[in-house]
Amino acid sequence: MTGKKDRGFFARSHSLARRNKVITKQQLQELAKEHGTPLFVVDHDELRNNIAMFRKYLPRVVPFYAIKSNPMPEIVHTLYEEGAGFDVASLPEFEVATQNLKGMSDADKMKWIYDKIIYANTIKPMEMLEALDKYKLLVTYDNFDEVKKLKKYSPNSRAILRICVPNKGAVVELSSKFGAMPEDCADLVYAALDAGISVEGLSFHVGSQTTEFDNYTIALKLAADIFEQVAKRGYKKMHMLDLGGGYPAPYDESVKPFPVLAEVINKSLNELFPKDIFCLAEPGRFMNATAAYSISRINGKTFRKGKPCYYINDGAYHTYSGIIFDHQHCHVHSFREDAKLVECGVFGPTCDALDVISMHEQLPADLQIGDLVYSDNMGAYSHASSTWFNGFPPAKVIHINL
Ligand SMILES: Cc1ncc(COP(=O)(O)O)c(C=O)c1O
Repeated sequence: MTGKKDRGFFARSHSLARRNKVITKQQLQELAKEHGTPLFVVDHDELRNNIAMFRKYLPRVVPFYAIKSNPMPEIVHTLYEEGAGFDVASLPEFEVATQNLKGMSDADKMKWIYDKIIYANTIKPMEMLEALDKYKLLVTYDNFDEVKKLKKYSPNSRAILRICVPNKGAVVELSSKFGAMPEDCADLVYAALDAGISVEGLSFHVGSQTTEFDNYTIALKLAADIFEQVAKRGYKKMHMLDLGGGYPAPYDESVKPFPVLAEVINKSLNELFPKDIFCLAEPGRFMNATAAYSISRINGKTFRKGKPCYYINDGAYHTYSGIIFDHQHCHVHSFREDAKLVECGVFGPTCDALDVISMHEQLPADLQIGDLVYSDNMGAYSHASSTWFNGFPPAKVIHINL
């Protein structure tokens, strides 16, 4: 492997000074030898590093892990032990989060759910609302029809109004699907209040893997203006602000460091929101992206227009599904230390033309069938959207440093 690839491997962490040892390439190869491929390796020390880093740099903001980004119960359990809250977007995600409460008294369970869960999908199935009403669940909404549903199916829920904010420069844009227009927000708060629903505060999402840190500044100003409008109309009980997700993973050197973003957020928060406003956020990718690796085996090789092309046993319908669903550019690396790198194609195992990982990977030209390759920064939106397409099952999962 050349110096260029080494930099990619070791620069993958958020941590400025990592507390725990980085998993080595040798360990990855040993795991693949022991467990076979395709293999998805989750490093729980890195999850702990990431939540510690979030808390260190955003001390006012309580992290609620966005389960959708990787719902593995082991990941949820580690973050539960670290004291995280959870952003759930479906009944099964609620169940993954609350699996950790076994053995708790009913009263403690109720309290934990009250304090530690936000159901952050603005559109909720009626059955779910009915089933979870007894927990007085914190839920987001962004439209008038949802208010009617809350009134009918979950009158005890506590509402957070999601506002539409600029998603400029985000890799995954969310503002065309979610969020109330600022001019409708005060009316939506009052519609919920009129329906007998308690409105706790506001939320926003600047778009996943944001590159424009100003989006947070703009969103926080918009939220502060809406707090003020609502208060002017008489309702002064909003006390929560949910800063959503967006916190970028360090996929490459172009991603600005998290402390820089944190400084931008802290400045606006402290200028605009009094200390008694409870601030939470819904980081998903930030927590898990750097905590997982995928290891695959080369099952086929050819040359297309002179370019070496490798067919590996994981692909775009499986662990690399983030290429399609998350607009990711996943890099595949060789374990070889010495080889000259050239531009290669890397394909997944299925019979489908869409199953392309990349036509521009830097790999040795002389890798052989049976050789192993790996990708780092694979924790988010990867295994979570893996399918069984063409009869190929999702990669086997191994947890280390549990
Ligand atoms: C409502 C909500 N919260 C949190 C997240 C997680 O955000 P991120 O991917 O930026 O970590 C998402 C992702 O789409 C989301 O839709």
